[in-house]
Amino acid sequence: MKLGFLKSCLALVPVLISLAQGYEIKNLPLDTPWTHTSGTDAWPEYPRPQLQRSQWKSLNGLWNWKEGAGADEVLMNIVPLPDTLAHEVLIPSCLESALSGIQKTNMTYSWFARRFEVPEGWTDNGNRVMLNFEAVDYIATVYVNSQRVGDQVGGYWHFSLDITEFLLHGNNTLQVSVFDPTDAEGYQIPVGKQALSPSHIFYTPCTGIWQSVWMESVPSQYITQLDVAAGMDGRINMTVGTSGGASNSSFQVTVADTRGNRVAYANGTVNRPFTFVVGSPHLWSPDDPTLYNISVTMGRDKVTSYTGFRTISVGEIDGVKRPLINGEFFFQFGTLDQGFWPDGIYTPPNREAMVYDLQQLKDLGFNMFRKHIKVENALFYQACDQLGLLVIQDMPSMPANGMPSDSQQAEWERQLDILITQHRNYPSIYTWIIYNEGWAQRTDYYPEAALTQRVKQLDPTRLVDATSGWHDHGYGDWHDNHHYANPQCGTPFYSTQSTPYDPTRMAIQGEFGGIGNNVSIEHLWNVKAAISTVNQTYEIDLTIQDWNYRAHLLLSELRDQVEKFACSAAIWTQTTDVEGEVNGLLTYDRRVLRPDVDQWKADIQALKDAGAARNGKAKKLRTQKLRLPAS
Ligand SMILES: *[C@@H]1O[C@H](CO)[C@@H](O)[C@H](O)[C@H]1NC(C)=O
Ligand SMILES: *[C@@H]1O[C@H](CO)[C@@H](O)[C@H](O)[C@H]1NC(C)=O
Ligand SMILES: *[C@@H]1O[C@H](CO)[C@@H](O)[C@H](O)[C@H]1NC(C)=O
Ligand SMILES: *[C@@H]1O[C@H](CO)[C@@H](O)[C@H](O)[C@H]1NC(C)=O
Ligand SMILES: *[C@@H]1O[C@H](CO)[C@@H](O)[C@H](O)[C@H]1NC(C)=O
Ligand SMILES: *[C@@H]1O[C@H](CO)[C@@H](O)[C@H](O)[C@H]1NC(C)=O
Ligand SMILES: *[C@@H]1O[C@H](CO)[C@@H](O)[C@H](O)[C@H]1NC(C)=O
Ligand SMILES: *[C@@H]1O[C@H](CO)[C@@H](O)[C@H](O)[C@H]1NC(C)=O
Repeated sequence: MKLGFLKSCLALVPVLISLAQGYEIKNLPLDTPWTHTSGTDAWPEYPRPQLQRSQWKSLNGLWNWKEGAGADEVLMNIVPLPDTLAHEVLIPSCLESALSGIQKTNMTYSWFARRFEVPEGWTDNGNRVMLNFEAVDYIATVYVNSQRVGDQVGGYWHFSLDITEFLLHGNNTLQVSVFDPTDAEGYQIPVGKQALSPSHIFYTPCTGIWQSVWMESVPSQYITQLDVAAGMDGRINMTVGTSGGASNSSFQVTVADTRGNRVAYANGTVNRPFTFVVGSPHLWSPDDPTLYNISVTMGRDKVTSYTGFRTISVGEIDGVKRPLINGEFFFQFGTLDQGFWPDGIYTPPNREAMVYDLQQLKDLGFNMFRKHIKVENALFYQACDQLGLLVIQDMPSMPANGMPSDSQQAEWERQLDILITQHRNYPSIYTWIIYNEGWAQRTDYYPEAALTQRVKQLDPTRLVDATSGWHDHGYGDWHDNHHYANPQCGTPFYSTQSTPYDPTRMAIQGEFGGIGNNVSIEHLWNVKAAISTVNQTYEIDLTIQDWNYRAHLLLSELRDQVEKFACSAAIWTQTTDVEGEVNGLLTYDRRVLRPDVDQWKADIQALKDAGAARNGKAKKLRTQKLRLPAS
């Protein structure tokens, strides 16, 4: 592959002397079992499971890269050819990662480029060619054959560009300019935990094309988005979004069960909500994550997707506000899930590695987790839908050490809208978090008041946790306490950074635990600056036995709070170690699982039992109240 690429560069530009420096995985501070398994065949899976078409082609793999000279290149349209970019880079990846083959930091400006061919027949019958990026951090300017075809602002969102008019017969060139200031002074943009100067709870940043790039052929009038909400009553509320010309077209939709049997067939009109009913659906829940396939045809366009039938609501049981899934309260227990990798930083080394983390949680008995100020690729959420893990999804915060100006706030709010509109179709996501621990949360007014309403307007089917920790002013469905190491979940006691439990809302312990246990150097992120922050971990337990003993006490204390107080859900910090933080269930390399599995399973089951006991006598009444009118 590598040799072929170099040969082809030579063939095209025979006089070029400087060959691109060949790809290799850079020296790793720490690897994982998957670091060396995929080679340059990165992320070959179909990247968009909720809007699938048959004609597609991955553009992942080796591209060329060089550092950019600055904003002027884009302003003046000085666009380099692939052969002039001195390094091979693996796409998708973060430039800071060893897997990228680059492993450089502070690359504020970059150029990425490759050549590509469009398969035969893709533009027949007036068909269009769409170029899709799943995510580029932070601003991407995209060129085809050195002509600018589009721009994107925001590091976590997918975007599609119609490149048909820019294509040549045979070889084409794709060039992408990337600008990423991360948390450089003066910038307040969504970054989550990324920091140019990593320190303990802030980690190595990600720059560049860190999720899949691919293209597909679509008919001249095509489906751009499927919004599907399917409730426990069997009602599907669906909006089929389309490209301009198709604004009043009709579509046909088929729903099939897990055995492939057709359970519904209906005709609707695009670009407006359309509802129809599937009789007695098998409901989706963490214990029984049943999904249904959907296929939608509009004219010559045909796409497939999936959904799960479930209803999320707030109920009151014995005077306590509770989150209900399909009308039932069960205790929701999850981890703080950062989604960082020692080899790929923001990009998991492959799908298997990504799913491994989720499977570990499932195996220990967790039924939920909190995706912490990061957004993952579509395959991640699909895996949660399939495995049965409820997701609390955070909006990536702006840097914690600053406050946004009005225009920075407006841009962040624009991207909050995108978070919701691009992710509101995954059955597993059930709560949105707007702010984390007051980070970049303005308090000269309460932005979360309007933002809670805005999120509810964009997605009336889910819950909102307006402020996870710290500056709570009474908005959203949850009252969220953060406290280390002990929980204070719906309790009549609280500490300085928190507010007293507010019984008009549901109680969640948005973070607790965080207990650490140092490990030998072969499982540590071997970076001196990170290791020197290990002792900032909230608590260090000297042995794994001590760590498990402490975990047992904390989980028992949480169980007491479920039994005695208003606690409905909780988040344990955290799924894995990250850099200088050694408080994961798993070490950063995923090779050591700290929990005493039998003890943890028993402790988690005890939490669930305590929750079930609180779901007792009001149950019958509630089911009656929820019964829906016949359709
Ligand atoms: C496209 O370029 C590659 C090398 O980059 C070459 O092998 C191939 O023959 C070219 N194809 C066409 C149709 O020109
Ligand atoms: C990157 O930039 C940050 C902030 O300007 C600085 O603290 C850090 O030392 C730089 N890192 C490198 C490797 O130059
Ligand atoms: C269907 O969804 C849309 C968009 O969220 C919403 O405005 C509408 O009220 C829903 N219709 C029904 C019947 O639930
Ligand atoms: C779509 O239908 C609406 C009402 O049914 C009509 O007002 C509108 O003109 C139509 N638009 C197009 C582009 O046909
Ligand atoms: C549902 O769709 C997926 C993806 O297209 C496919 O792999 C699977 O076989 C389908 N399931 C059934 C039961 O048809
Ligand atoms: C949907 O429309 C098609 C024609 O486009 C028609 O053949 C079919 O009977 C309709 N089906 C339903 C359920 O209305
Ligand atoms: C953690 O372990 C590493 C080596 O594995 C060691 O260098 C470091 O000093 C330890 N830190 C603490 C706080 O124990
Ligand atoms: C943490 O360890 C560093 C040395 O590795 C030391 O300088 C520092 O004082 C320690 N901090 C605490 C809070 O113990």
